[in-house]
Amino acid sequence: MTHPAAADLIARSNRLGSDPKNTNYAGGNTSAKGTETDPVTGQPVELVWVKGSGGDLGTLTEQGLAVLRLDRMRALVDVYPGVEREDEMVAAFDYCLHGKGGAAPSIDTAMHGLVDAPHVDHLHPDSGIAVATAADGQELTSTIFGDKVVWVPWRRPGFQLGLDIAEIKEKNPQAIGCILGGHGITAWGETSDEAERASLWIIDTAAAYIAEHSRPEPFGPPLAGYAPLPQAERRAKAAALGATIRGIASQDRPMVGHFTDTGEVLDFLASSEHPRLGALGTSCPDHFLRTKVKPLVLDLPSDAPVEDCVARLKELAVAYREDYQAYYDRHATPESPAIRGADPLIVLVPGVGMFSFGKDKQTARVAGEFYVNAINVMRGAEGLSTYAPIDEAEKFRIEYWALEEAKLQRMPKPKPLATRVALVTGAAGGIGKATAKKLAAEGACVVIADLSLEKAQAAAAEIGGSDVAVGVAADVSDEDAVQAMVDAAVLAFGGVDLVVNNAGLSLSKSLMDTTAADWDLQHNVMAKGSFLVSKATAKVMVEQEMGGDIVYISSKNSVVAGPNNIAYSATKADQAHQVRLLAAELGAHGIKVNGVNPDGVVQGSGIFASGWGANRAAVYGVEEKDLGKFYAQRTILKREVLPENIANAVFVLCGPDMTHTTGLHVPVDAGVAAAFLR
Ligand SMILES: NC(=O)c1ccc[n+]([C@@H]2O[C@H](COP(=O)([O-])OP(=O)(O)OC[C@H]3O[C@@H](n4cnc5c(N)ncnc54)[C@H](O)[C@@H]3O)[C@@H](O)[C@H]2O)c1
Ligand SMILES: [Zn+2]
Repeated sequence: MTHPAAADLIARSNRLGSDPKNTNYAGGNTSAKGTETDPVTGQPVELVWVKGSGGDLGTLTEQGLAVLRLDRMRALVDVYPGVEREDEMVAAFDYCLHGKGGAAPSIDTAMHGLVDAPHVDHLHPDSGIAVATAADGQELTSTIFGDKVVWVPWRRPGFQLGLDIAEIKEKNPQAIGCILGGHGITAWGETSDEAERASLWIIDTAAAYIAEHSRPEPFGPPLAGYAPLPQAERRAKAAALGATIRGIASQDRPMVGHFTDTGEVLDFLASSEHPRLGALGTSCPDHFLRTKVKPLVLDLPSDAPVEDCVARLKELAVAYREDYQAYYDRHATPESPAIRGADPLIVLVPGVGMFSFGKDKQTARVAGEFYVNAINVMRGAEGLSTYAPIDEAEKFRIEYWALEEAKLQRMPKPKPLATRVALVTGAAGGIGKATAKKLAAEGACVVIADLSLEKAQAAAAEIGGSDVAVGVAADVSDEDAVQAMVDAAVLAFGGVDLVVNNAGLSLSKSLMDTTAADWDLQHNVMAKGSFLVSKATAKVMVEQEMGGDIVYISSKNSVVAGPNNIAYSATKADQAHQVRLLAAELGAHGIKVNGVNPDGVVQGSGIFASGWGANRAAVYGVEEKDLGKFYAQRTILKREVLPENIANAVFVLCGPDMTHTTGLHVPVDAGVAAAFLR
């Protein structure tokens, strides 16, 4: 049963964590102390419940808490070897745990255990960090809060910071909390409510003071030519630049992208001080791993042509990498973890917005959120004073902290398609949806395109939230619609690197019955549609310089001749030859082009449901519901072919094991000798 102190703690944490003004995503931690009966001795034992490593306060549950014995935790003070070796104390926390389960104790556990208050909150609010990063933060703290809040000079989180804060609390009985220089806030209370009130009072008082005392235009006067473009123009420019920018961010390892044109970013970029502030970088310790020390900022006005922006971004990327390597070399010691790549994680484009990057969509999105936090912090600090983040050497000590490196090493191995952005046409149902599902299950972000936006979005929602799958409307036979679809993919995930040309439809008619309109419809959707999709997506892949895959869902009918199939089979043969042509043409860019030849996929197929199945059943003299089984009996393996079988073949062609195969068609038909390729 949940201890009442832990229950209160979880409720308080969820309230605090669900309002972004209080703390950044997954930032900060909270604790409560209480007494329980020790099952070993039957005697009361004092415990501390503290949010463990990882996880977010807004969604904290009991599993996210570490539970430690307070007597053992506090006994660590006697064996503490000093600040030089404070990291060793993190391993010692494991010897203070009470029972098993729960989360691993985080580096901030010391602060919570050592501060002599039943309830403690440590948070990263923008308003509090603004004061914490102001050049005269110490004076501001006493001006704003009097003696209720005490200034703690910057110190990297750890055991020593816990000791410092415990001492401050003891020496300042009137205080309800403190501002941690360069970092955030800590507050405490006798009850859970009192701690929450203390946290909110510090956050709101700081925000109100900034609102009242900030000078106008904290980021300086508007910069001529850097005002935001109108929404449609900036989205179009973002889409045009997206692939190049993803390529720049993915030189060391492939990244998923996130784009935002939120007002905070556009205002920042439209102001004259943004180059100076951008170069100063972020400050809160949570930020460095997510955003790197500083962003790459394009130094061209909002209306600079796309070609000029591309050329300049590439120059800036070279400089960024040199600069980052130099930063690493300046601060690395022989014990430092290896450099984690020198590419930017945040790229700012004046008038347009911000691209942020990560190993998956959620990480990319949160990196962007963190930079918006940093902008808010800079605005507050510059409004009252001068923004003065912690110095570069300290930033490095955080970014390349051995404890952070150990956390990264413990991360689960990424899935085979992690970081890859897949676009599947005709994916609202049938083979397309099964393929999108499989690719997502193997780690890809997927864009589901189909004629109906509603159906595309419903299929996406079935697969996962917007960090995994998005639905877009696109008629693949319409060139503008195809471009809009590709733009949507770039804005959703940063680019595209795995394309499945699956959209299709089938009219089974004899030569005499096939009208010119029937012919055009099938050729427009399949031959022309996949040509248009390949063309628009290959452009993105070439700009990204990250290779890629294009897979055509052709058909057994592309090689087997049968009656009543002139338009469908002809356009399938066209698609099949596109595979070979494009494999030859795009190989120079590392783009593989392959095909899958399905046959007799009845289950889930809209093609079969909308008349084709009834027609085929009539032709073969079986009931429509038995058509799948009938087809199975015609195969060598006597197996019914399911949409998942096609999806698996697509995965294999694009997965980590088929790196040296292009121009291939894989039959997935349970064995049809007439369709053997030679
Ligand atoms: N089912 C089979 O036995 C079989 C066999 C060989 C090949 N194929 C091919 O597999 C692909 C998928 O077929 P399915 O059986 O899953 O059929 P399906 O009808 O379930 O799926 C096709 C999807 O394409 C979409 N679509 C149609 N026209 C479009 C357009 N202009 N733009 C965008 N989307 C469009 C449809 O809305 C539908 O969601 C097709 O290319 C088909 O020719 C299917
Ligand atoms: Zn912190």
